[in-house]
Amino acid sequence: MADVFEVLGKDHAEVRAMLTELEAGTRKGPPADPAELRRRGELVQRLVIDESKHEAVEEEYFWPAVRELLGDGDELADHGVGQEQDAKHVLAVLDKSKPGEADFEEAVARFIADAREHISYEEGTVWPRMRQVLDPERAQRMGDRIAAAKKHAPTRPHPNTPPNPALLKTAGPAVAATDRIRDLVSGRGRH
Ligand SMILES: [Fe+2]
Ligand SMILES: [Fe+2]
Repeated sequence: MADVFEVLGKDHAEVRAMLTELEAGTRKGPPADPAELRRRGELVQRLVIDESKHEAVEEEYFWPAVRELLGDGDELADHGVGQEQDAKHVLAVLDKSKPGEADFEEAVARFIADAREHISYEEGTVWPRMRQVLDPERAQRMGDRIAAAKKHAPTRPHPNTPPNPALLKTAGPAVAATDRIRDLVSGRGRH
């Protein structure tokens, strides 16, 4: 049993590790070796899948609780969800381009900076406030729900879908199922 902060924090740690690895690759310059290029492509694909799921479940369960429990929750959530929407556009570029292409490296650099800023905002600004108002039992329940929801969450960014929690709860599973069928057919995320 893990509470909401542990479940989301584990995702953040995994994303941070991927960003560090991607950044190390950027510093070395564009990979010339086809195997290295492929590995970089696979890493980004994993990042797109994991991030898409993570932000979808936050939008479904975490940000609504921020709005409900904090006096300035709407402002805090609007800022966080706004960062997530911007990130989805970058993830969509990454999902379509390939390592070695100009668009790809540009989007990688932008995503590394934006994702770090977003994670710092959540962990440094929003979580301390939520820890004060979220009772431990509800934090556990939310952690369980988020962990379960991730199993059926969309694996693609869907930047043009409004991040509406009610809509995600009704349409989300259908969108996620379509994503997963596409993944199955293409072999995406099977590395
Ligand atoms: Fe987020
Ligand atoms: Fe997050």
